[in-house]
Amino acid sequence: MKKTILLSALLLLAAPAWATDMELKGIMKDLDAKTQAIVDGINRGDFEAVWNNAKKISDHEEPSFTEKVRILGFLLTDAKDFKSFGDVVHDEAERLADAAKKRDYDGAIAHFAAMLKGCAGCHAGYREKFVKYFYR
Ligand code: HEC
Repeated sequence: MKKTILLSALLLLAAPAWATDMELKGIMKDLDAKTQAIVDGINRGDFEAVWNNAKKISDHEEPSFTEKVRILGFLLTDAKDFKSFGDVVHDEAERLADAAKKRDYDGAIAHFAAMLKGCAGCHAGYREKFVKYFYR
């Protein structure tokens, strides 16, 4: 099993160019739509919508195993840092959902802002490199 993983990792590294959009892009578009829905929910005082969308963000889909291998092959030693931004998004989305449950405006806004920092931190550090590498 280990050998198979290593071999597929090497094969995938040898052919990094992506013919179509990555699964990650689809996941991102989805995260974006949920983020917009949260802003809308906060503005309308619709805490159920805030809760619902925050939960969907914290439980968001992940790319397939094959795509993950390609991403990890590209990130190498940066993988931990990359993942840490995903953890921030996950944890803050959970806290945001908890605040929404309590109809706590201040808490919801604070955790929403902290969640966005996770999105923006990863984009600032990796998005351009990522797009250059995978879509060149
Ligand atoms: C761990 C890193 C990481 C985190 C966290 C992250 N993103 Fe991204 N995001 C990326 C990368 C990499 C791309 C480029 C993907 C591509 O072009 O295929 C991207 C692209 C995007 C795009 C552009 C998609 C397009 O149509 O080209 C949007 C919108 C987006 N992210 C929204 C979000 C939102 C909202 C969050 C937080 C809730 C978030 N992202 C969190 C890494 C991250």
